Amino acid sequence: MTSTSSLPPLESAYQDFLQSYPSYLDTRSLDDLRQGEYARLDAAGQVYLDYTGGGLYAETQLRQHIELLRQHVFGNPHSTSPASDLSTRLVEQARQAVLRFFNAAPDEYAAIFTANASSALKLVGESFPFGPGDHYLLTFDNHNSVNGIREFARAHGAEITYIPVQLPDMRIDEECLQGFLNLAMPGGSNLFAFPAQSNFSGVQHPLEWIARAQEQDWMVMLDAAAFAPTNRLDLGRWQPDFVPLSFYKMFGYPTGVGCLLARRAALEKLHRPWFAGGTITVASVQGDKYYLAPGEAAFEEGTVNYLNLPAVEIGLNHLGTIGLELIHERVRCLTGWLLEHLLDLRHANGQALIRLYGPTSIERRGGTLTLNFFESSGRAIDHRRIEALANQANISLRTGCFCNPGAGEIALGISQPELAACFTRSNDRLTLDDFRLCIDGKSSGAVRISLGLASNFADVYRFLQFAEGLL
Ligand SMILES: Cc1ncc(COP(=O)(O)O)c(C=O)c1O
Repeated sequence: MTSTSSLPPLESAYQDFLQSYPSYLDTRSLDDLRQGEYARLDAAGQVYLDYTGGGLYAETQLRQHIELLRQHVFGNPHSTSPASDLSTRLVEQARQAVLRFFNAAPDEYAAIFTANASSALKLVGESFPFGPGDHYLLTFDNHNSVNGIREFARAHGAEITYIPVQLPDMRIDEECLQGFLNLAMPGGSNLFAFPAQSNFSGVQHPLEWIARAQEQDWMVMLDAAAFAPTNRLDLGRWQPDFVPLSFYKMFGYPTGVGCLLARRAALEKLHRPWFAGGTITVASVQGDKYYLAPGEAAFEEGTVNYLNLPAVEIGLNHLGTIGLELIHERVRCLTGWLLEHLLDLRHANGQALIRLYGPTSIERRGGTLTLNFFESSGRAIDHRRIEALANQANISLRTGCFCNPGAGEIALGISQPELAACFTRSNDRLTLDDFRLCIDGKSSGAVRISLGLASNFADVYRFLQFAEGLL
């Protein structure tokens, strides 16, 4: 279908959608949930399309958490008082809930609480025993907090290699991957990092890579921050060494708490570069010595977020009650419909309205779509203009490069020589505006829409209407 005409009305578009995606009807309980628990979205007339940026919380999550805080006296968990003991118990309960949620055996995996996924990644980066000849291998498609680990690798003399993604799907060629896996230093400290789901293109990279890389002397870090909100990560089946997560992306509340799921055997290979309150059994000033606490405690610095951690268990229970499979199916259906219809939109002269960066079908991808809009002349519409228009339409989406510059550079066709020229021209600092001038004529970013647990058909319909309005 080539379309310059307007969409059918919402109700008939919905019926057409159900014809193509009948399994959506099995997820109707999420419509009820939206009306009750997420009523603020419709009350405010908001179309929320930034679930990869942050998930949304249900009202009961807030109520249950506030009730807990109102009923009890919580103290700093570092002692044995009744107030402290209660905090300790609920923190440990939250830890067990995290392990259960990911089907991680407690004797195999530790759940280390952090401030967010980035802090979890930093814990691995600063403690990984990189040395000369070792290797840090990572995909172009990675969040900056994974990219940043290269600076620890570099500082310790390790090699750093990026694996490019291929256009148009933005996946990695499997045969090409083998060549990169061959780079491991035998018996060395080699780390391979990739996202289970791209926060740029929505691509789901194969989890089969985990065991394959481990067999070839790599420790594997699977960034699950963008994957976990709408997909089941079963650590009974897939056993990466490190998995960073942010809980607000999964269930919206609380912010400020994340986690590093780490294989206990992998943790033993890490060397913490310092110690802090909470991470030691004993430290002495005059003795000039310290002894790290065992397991997760050695990695949890200072006082854990003991008032918010019980809300993590509440959030996990919330997702568990709904069922991740149901959320996954709903997002799959909505994404499929949106993809088909967005790709169909054309100006009267036949010029496509959008260019999608990533897979055009719903196979092996999640509900994150990144694209740019084009005028009938073929000129790209600046993503900042799209954002301003979306804001006016009460649509929350994300624009820019989403902290994933590698995927962005490939998607937008910005080459290494162009980037090298920009970076030598600058002095100490390069602002985003300097950078835009430097890659003159090319888009420096794109528009991202992402779906999640409270998304419904009306949301994607309204976005399509918005897009059509740009024709
Ligand atoms: C794939 C991925 N990894 C890591 C992060 C970092 O998460 P945080 O900002 O919560 O530390 C994000 C955030 O968007 C992400 O999408």
